[in-house]
Amino acid sequence: MEHFLAISDLSSDEVQDLLDLAIKLKKEYFKKGNKPLFEGKVLGMIFQKPSLRTRVSFDMAMRHMGGDALYLSPAEIGLGKRESIADVARVLSGYVHGLMARVFEHEHVLELAKWSDVPVVNGLSDYNHPCQGMADALTIQEKFGKKKGLNVAFVGDGNNVAVSLMHVSAKLGWNFTLASPEGYDLNPKAIEVAKKIAEKTGRGGVTPPLLRFIRDPHEAVKGAHVIYTDTWTSMGQEEETARRGKVFPPYQVNAQLVSEADKDVIVMHCLPAHRNHELTDEVADGPHSVIFPQAHNRLHAQKAILARLFGVA
Ligand code: CP
Ligand code: NVA
Repeated sequence: MEHFLAISDLSSDEVQDLLDLAIKLKKEYFKKGNKPLFEGKVLGMIFQKPSLRTRVSFDMAMRHMGGDALYLSPAEIGLGKRESIADVARVLSGYVHGLMARVFEHEHVLELAKWSDVPVVNGLSDYNHPCQGMADALTIQEKFGKKKGLNVAFVGDGNNVAVSLMHVSAKLGWNFTLASPEGYDLNPKAIEVAKKIAEKTGRGGVTPPLLRFIRDPHEAVKGAHVIYTDTWTSMGQEEETARRGKVFPPYQVNAQLVSEADKDVIVMHCLPAHRNHELTDEVADGPHSVIFPQAHNRLHAQKAILARLFGVA
């Protein structure tokens, strides 16, 4: 693995391998601490948008494993503005051992990877959020094991987080349903990619995972083992907040909706949550919610990603 830009770039075996390594590193961390496999290594972290989880979990992943991380704020870098992305990538490649970038346009993280001599990790773009997708899959497997055929329902905006969840679901043989309002569908290119993944996953006598794109949240959660939601307005869409606030209320994940799913359903959210908008307090803090273990799993999933990229595990 040269870079980590999209879950769709990995084979199903590579996805499972990262999840297995994440579990191993998580156990090791809680037992006696991780080995200093990242000693002497520094991760440069480029942020064009705010972050709590991504910033802190990458920083801590590096420190727990003997390395260090350097935060580069939007004001400092001016990616593509103060300096071209190609030049930023080539300069930073001589200073740090890996780059993590949170960008607006997906093309920008691809451009960084094109010019970088060190591994590049996508820490969220307008297209996808693959580190989140890996932590989500880790959380789902911790609850349900490596079972195929789970029903994953994403309720809300067909956004970057939904893309990575759809792709990891298709890779691992889980059925994926999106219930979104008209006009807030998933990126058609991402759907095409998911269909190809599902077809491949379904070879060799395995039941191919189903992909459904519907409007009705109640239909989506019938038999669901996972209900997932995210903000109605992603970073960069702030001027659409009022319009979206009128369209999305029927897609709120509340106690009624959760009661319509499988009895063992888990409720997930990548966070930050806009409580009592896309997710009620009652559900966020209720017995089905796994939102905090899910957030904590970012740390363990990313240790595995970095270890494979650095070639140290
Ligand atoms: N889920 C997630 O990526 O959170 P941050 O935006 O706080 O990094
Ligand atoms: N869809 C959200 C995810 C935040 C982690 C956004 O892009 O703002």
